[in-house]
Amino acid sequence: MKCVDDFRLRFGRQELVPIVVGGMGVDISTAELALEAARLGGIGHISDAMVKTVSDRRFKTDFVKGKLKRYKFNVANSDKSAVLFDLGRLAEATHNHVGQVMQAKRGNGLIFVNCMEKLTMNAPRETLRVRLSAALDAGIDGITLSAGLHLGSFALIADHPRFRDAKLGIIVSSLRALQLFLRKNARFGRLPDYVVVEGPLAGGHLGFGIDDWAKYDLRVIVTGIQQYLHAEKLDIPLIPAGGIFTGSDAVSYLETGAAAVQVATRFTATRECGLPDKVKQEYFKASEEDIEVNMISPTGYAMRMLKGSPAIGAGTRPNCEAYGYLLDGSGNCAYITAYNREVAAHPKAKKISVMDKTCLCTAMRNFDCWTCGHNTYRLKDTTRRLADGTYQLLSTEHVFRDYQFSIDQKIALPPESSLAEDAPNRLNQAHGKLENAELSYGAKP
Ligand SMILES: Cc1cc2nc3c(=O)[nH]c(=O)nc-3n(C[C@H](O)[C@H](O)[C@H](O)COP(=O)(O)O)c2cc1C
Repeated sequence: MKCVDDFRLRFGRQELVPIVVGGMGVDISTAELALEAARLGGIGHISDAMVKTVSDRRFKTDFVKGKLKRYKFNVANSDKSAVLFDLGRLAEATHNHVGQVMQAKRGNGLIFVNCMEKLTMNAPRETLRVRLSAALDAGIDGITLSAGLHLGSFALIADHPRFRDAKLGIIVSSLRALQLFLRKNARFGRLPDYVVVEGPLAGGHLGFGIDDWAKYDLRVIVTGIQQYLHAEKLDIPLIPAGGIFTGSDAVSYLETGAAAVQVATRFTATRECGLPDKVKQEYFKASEEDIEVNMISPTGYAMRMLKGSPAIGAGTRPNCEAYGYLLDGSGNCAYITAYNREVAAHPKAKKISVMDKTCLCTAMRNFDCWTCGHNTYRLKDTTRRLADGTYQLLSTEHVFRDYQFSIDQKIALPPESSLAEDAPNRLNQAHGKLENAELSYGAKP
């Protein structure tokens, strides 16, 4: 019986353990998590979502305060078209985040950055060009283009000296999306180095509709794409993602031609994951009924999350002056429209609730949108229950090695640990402190 370790992901002459830990924004897939995956010989992702917030937390910069100060005059204005990112500062924040993780990298693995196209940042092309170029400048091993078709992204960096040496990959959820990308980018004489095929059970935003996601099957999509690549004689490593919960699940894809697998949900239960520890416990506790796919993301994409996410129904005043990552280029975001509608409908209310959309920037920043994969309800089976009723956190190394070596659908439980070891780590305490400092301008209602 085979295990994942019997296979290798090959990029030219480089051989890797075929486990990719997927990007989880905003700093859920932390540098620490990605570094462990790379140290163990696989691929780890950081994410550049809300990179200014991430830089402020980690490097004590004050990008968010600075932006809010600059645009404070606009806070009560529903027209956000004036609120622009300073591209120099965006490059600096990206450089801080990417540069630091690359400097700390040990081992034979790779570190990639997950770059979501849907972060349109009120100037989609200009900001995306800066994000991609700054990550390449800072030495990132590869970029995974996600959440959107990214049809024009190669063009934005085609002149960059690292355009051909860095690994560039895309995430698609259908053959059609891949075909569009390949057609549009044929002129660059450079195929993507890998294609992540993400199915309907993944966490974060989904490439499927709210009503039909359950009709799709990852294996069927992967097989269709494999057949197409074979017929076109295109040699691009395929990396299935979404619902691959055990080493045996991974082996079943590797045995049928996948180059690696991308996984995420099991790593949300690790100490290195950036979610606050009390949120990790919510993930452990969740039953299948506690998880839903909804449309509250202003991006227009369906998103999977715990029904108990504080982001659902929160009536946060739009925080675009501080964040503004989802402004579309003309100062619009679907949440602003929804928020203004509710304010107009309840003019006397001190606190309003917005059910159909959420201020995703604020929610992700505060770890209030508990996005998760479909299999989150199985996390409790991957660990031990402690005497106080909480679940024992795992190490990234433990989960990685379990994927790498387990057979027969088995999941290894972690060694028993004392409660003290699993007490909230310093990073989570820091999150709490900075939350107050960063929002001291009173941008919340
Ligand atoms: C908490 C969480 C956050 C995620 N955030 C992102 C993201 O920011 N960008 C992205 O492309 N994918 C995101 N994903 C998707 C993962 O990178 C990955 O492809 C997928 O979840 C793999 O399936 P699994 O979670 O069942 O292992 C997220 C997944 C989870 C669980």
